[in-house]
Amino acid sequence: MTSFYGASARNEATLEVRQILEGLAPGEGDLLEALHRVQHRYGYIPQAAIPGVAQHLRLPESRVYGAVTYYSEFRQTPPPETKISWCSGPACYIKGSENLRLVLEGLLACGMGENTPDNRLGLHLGQCNGTCDNAPQVWVDGEVVGPLTPSKTVELVRRLQAGDQP
Ligand code: FES
Repeated sequence: MTSFYGASARNEATLEVRQILEGLAPGEGDLLEALHRVQHRYGYIPQAAIPGVAQHLRLPESRVYGAVTYYSEFRQTPPPETKISWCSGPACYIKGSENLRLVLEGLLACGMGENTPDNRLGLHLGQCNGTCDNAPQVWVDGEVVGPLTPSKTVELVRRLQAGDQP
């Protein structure tokens, strides 16, 4: 993944974005495709990419920004190094997932959908993926970790904060 802010100036950044968008036609029709391409490249939609998208599509920057904020699939912040997805499904709920959530939010000092200030760990809302035998559980970068208790969750977070494997 390329660091967007590696570009030395706004003009360079705009040029880089416009290269990503090559082949897309001006107008509303390719707006979502353009934003998907930018997010695929950087992992999110950097604020500084918006002028380049707007110029390429010949749309107002406010229109581009509106689409970024309207569609939940677009991230406005860089993805975390490690993503913890908390399962919000019914089997996990019955087995105490709310307690795991409290531990996660408390230790990470961030809410659901947010990253830690150093961007190393991110907490995300997950949906049941059918691995309910391990409920209550989380996924760490897509790998199931469970069944968990609050104390096992504390240990898990400590390991991840130390840079260890789950
Ligand atoms: S409810 Fe959590 S994995 Fe199914």
